[in-house]
Amino acid sequence: MKVAIIYTSKTGNTEELVFVLRDLFLRKKIEVCLFRVEQFPLQDLPAFDAVIIGTYTWRDGEIPVEMLALYRAFETADVKHIVTGVVGTGDSCYPHFCGAVDGFRDMLYVQSHLSATLKIEVALQSKDYERCRGFVDKLWKSLNK
Ligand SMILES: Cc1cc2nc3c(=O)[nH]c(=O)nc-3n(C[C@H](O)[C@H](O)[C@H](O)COP(=O)(O)O)c2cc1C
Repeated sequence: MKVAIIYTSKTGNTEELVFVLRDLFLRKKIEVCLFRVEQFPLQDLPAFDAVIIGTYTWRDGEIPVEMLALYRAFETADVKHIVTGVVGTGDSCYPHFCGAVDGFRDMLYVQSHLSATLKIEVALQSKDYERCRGFVDKLWKSLNK
């Protein structure tokens, strides 16, 4: 099974989140290839069975600019078969909390087999681990249907 986590992170919050998710997948004996978005070979996207996107949100609820090529690849490539999930960290002081997660979610719902989403308030807290486990369980169930 080919599973990728593709992410971006400026100050480390989203990176910490995707590291935790990778470990939770490993506990289910699922190997995950972890890519910073700049390093991901976009032409290989259709070869994956599952892709998890990790993103922070910038400015007015926007998707970070470095994620836009990946967004377009999902819009244009043959990705209907891919089980997807989108996770992110954001700050609810801003009017559109985790807007980038919502932006990816709406597109992935149409283009792929969207399984789960997860929004984290700034940095992971111990109370969030249960939610991370729930996210991984949903992906795992979608992959094993
Ligand atoms: C200039 C600026 C704009 C931001 N805009 C938003 C926003 O619109 N919505 C949101 O939920 N968070 C916003 N944030 C908060 C970041 O998304 C949040 O701190 C996130 O955890 C950063 O992730 P990272 O550590 O992976 O880079 C903003 C932060 C900064 C500094």
